[in-house]
This record gives sequence, structure tokens and C-alpha cells, in this order.
Amino acid sequence: MAEARVLTIRAFRHDPADQGSVPRLQDYTVTEEPGMNLFTALHRIRDEQDPSIAFDFSCRSAVCGSCGMLVNGKPRLACRTLTRDLPALIQLMPMPVFRLIRDLSVDTGVWFRGMNGRIESWLHEARPFDPTAPEERMDQATAEKVYDADRCIECGLCVAGCATAAMRPGFLGAAGLNRIGRFVLDPRDTRSAADFSVLSTGEGVFGCLGLLGCHDYCPKDLPLRERFAYLRRSLAWNLLGLGGRKR
Ligand code: SF4
Ligand code: FES
Repeated sequence: MAEARVLTIRAFRHDPADQGSVPRLQDYTVTEEPGMNLFTALHRIRDEQDPSIAFDFSCRSAVCGSCGMLVNGKPRLACRTLTRDLPALIQLMPMPVFRLIRDLSVDTGVWFRGMNGRIESWLHEARPFDPTAPEERMDQATAEKVYDADRCIECGLCVAGCATAAMRPGFLGAAGLNRIGRFVLDPRDTRSAADFSVLSTGEGVFGCLGLLGCHDYCPKDLPLRERFAYLRRSLAWNLLGLGGRKR
């Protein structure tokens, strides 16, 4: 049997709340085990070597979206990244764009709350809500597209891997554009693409440089490239008066 690899985990360390803290990289060694993922390796470090290292996690199964970080330069979920797919030297950095809390932990919540507030990320229906009304019917193909968009776990990997988001703080990112697409697709929502005023600006779908890091890194394999094309098309139709308006 091949001998187990000894991994070097090189982790970013910094506490912005501590005036004396100096950003640095710190090395830890961990013996690899079969099926080990980065989540397990980080826990081993925290349990056995250094309880002060900070990182986020919750579900351990690519559902909560908490454990995003840059792994050898690429945005990934720690709980979904197997160490056997990585070299023996693994560098971990916090995701850019989001506010750094400490070490590998960033605040994605504020970013997502801001984005969801900006695009009013809830159903806008023409009729007042009636809890006793029968369920609305939706054709199967449309329902599948809407629920596919709803699979976003708000992990932020698409934002961390996006050149525009790094340069332009107001950019909605793939997560925001996917969210708008979800409401434009939904026949219950009265809004068309043209009703989202940010969409046609540099902070919307036209701000995208087309590098498509989001498409490469999304852990849920959401069809983000197709969503952008759909939004650009819908917007053009709406603005040229060729249809697609819901009201
Ligand atoms: S679109 Fe994909 S990468 Fe972006 S937040 Fe949603 S699940 Fe994460
Ligand atoms: S711990 Fe929930 S997505 Fe990784």
C-alpha cells in the first residue's frame, strides 16, 4: 500500500479587528487519509494543532454555502474538495470581494443581503396575497427552469471568481443575475427584464466581461452562461418593443 501523503496546508491568517495583526501565511502539516476533504483537514488542524484558526462551515455537504475559500487560487467549497485532487502543498486564502472577518472566514451575508434588497428578491404579484387561494399552475418546462435557478446556495464562489466583481463593487455578480433571471422566468412575477433598472447598466448583465469564471466555479453547475444570454435577449426584446413584457 502506498504511503499516506503528508500535506502542507498554507493558510492565510489575519484578524482585521486586531490592530497588531499582520497578514501572513502559516503552514500546518496533516497526514492525508482516504476520502479526506479540506473541511476535514481544517478541522484536524483546529482540533489538534491550532484552535485559533478561523473558517466557516455548517452542513459539510455543499448545501449551506458557508465554506467557500480560494484553494490554490480557485474558489471552491472546502467540504466538497477532496485533498487527493490537490497537490501536497495547498494554499488557502479567504474569498476576495467579501469583507474579511478573520483568517479564512468572510462575510458573504452582508453582500447577499444587499444584492437581494437591491433587486427586491421576492415575488411581485399583481393580486394581493390570498392564503386560501388554490395553488397557481405553471407549465412543467417553466417550473423546472425557475426551480433550477433556485438551486443557488449563495456560496459566493461565482462572485469570488469574477473579474468584474473584483473591480466594480456594485456589480450584481452571477448570483444576482441568476436571481433576476429566476423572477423574469416566473410567470407569477409581474416584472420583465426591463423593469430591473440595474440590469442594463455596467452593474448588471452588460458589466460582465465574459470571462465566465462564475460558470467554471459554481458548485451547483447552474447554467449561468445561458442565464446571462437569456437576460440580454429579454432586455433587448423589451427595449425594442418586440415582446416579452409581462405588463
Ligand atoms: S450561482 Fe453558483 S457559485 Fe454563485 S452563489 Fe449561487 S451556487 Fe454559489
Ligand atoms: S459546509 Fe456547507 S457548503 Fe460546505
